[in-house]
Amino acid sequence: MGDLIDMKKKVTRITLQRMKAKGERIAALTSYDYLSTRLLDGAGIDLILVGDSLGMVIMGYENTLPVTMEEIIHHLKAVSRAKPRAMIVGDLPFMSYQASVEDAVRNAGRLVKEGGAEGVKLEGGKRFVPVIEAIVEASIPVVGHLGLTPQSLYQFGGYRVQGKDDESAGILFQDALSLEKAGCFSMVLEGIPWTLARRISEAVSIPTIGIGAGVHCDGQILVLNDMLGIHEMELPRFVKKYDEIGERITKAVSAYISDVKEGSFPGPGHSYSAGNGEKKGK
Ligand code: KIV
Repeated sequence: MGDLIDMKKKVTRITLQRMKAKGERIAALTSYDYLSTRLLDGAGIDLILVGDSLGMVIMGYENTLPVTMEEIIHHLKAVSRAKPRAMIVGDLPFMSYQASVEDAVRNAGRLVKEGGAEGVKLEGGKRFVPVIEAIVEASIPVVGHLGLTPQSLYQFGGYRVQGKDDESAGILFQDALSLEKAGCFSMVLEGIPWTLARRISEAVSIPTIGIGAGVHCDGQILVLNDMLGIHEMELPRFVKKYDEIGERITKAVSAYISDVKEGSFPGPGHSYSAGNGEKKGK
């Protein structure tokens, strides 16, 4: 039998809710593959999101809208195979939950059953209360997502910070209360003023996880490739780069190309010599 997941050590929605109650901050990152998940988990990350950001980071799409259920499930499988201690949340992609409650429950179920997700995330406010309630009713933990929700790119007319005026801040605040009431165990707050994020974080008892929402959220999340410096596009100001791995990859690959072209790789240390019984030339 393969390794069983030790549920005593496993981060679950309950662990995360207890962390908020104790004032312990939650560190979350996206991950899309097996090895990165092992590395993140080894470092002690609390939550791993297989986000629809994979559309831009992995697939090269212009935005997250073309991402399919199959793509999310494919990457979820790789991540869940790493059996992390961290909680694994899978993103419901655009149009997998907007058309009907039935679609939403079925697709949330697929992320858990086929991909190995331990919770799902969906974007949107009050309008999605019936959807959230039905998914929670099916015993699937739900993370809400408010503010600059990238699946609403065309509705917003671009990636714009949300909730900057009193009226829209009031709507987002009410949305946050609705998500908690509907049964979300946590919510992502993206691209909103820190004052609004603080107000929401103080008003709800479930953990808020911020991205571009200031330091007063109960946790933070970033796209892994952005914080590691493996990206093509200009990054928003809320991203802190912890490394420049993209530059280091280019440097390493350039050195390899030079070695190959010059004939200095492989050297004797990377080559096999003929031993007993081995025919020359093999
Ligand atoms: O898709 C994603 O990676 C996300 C996070 C950035 C919150 O939704």
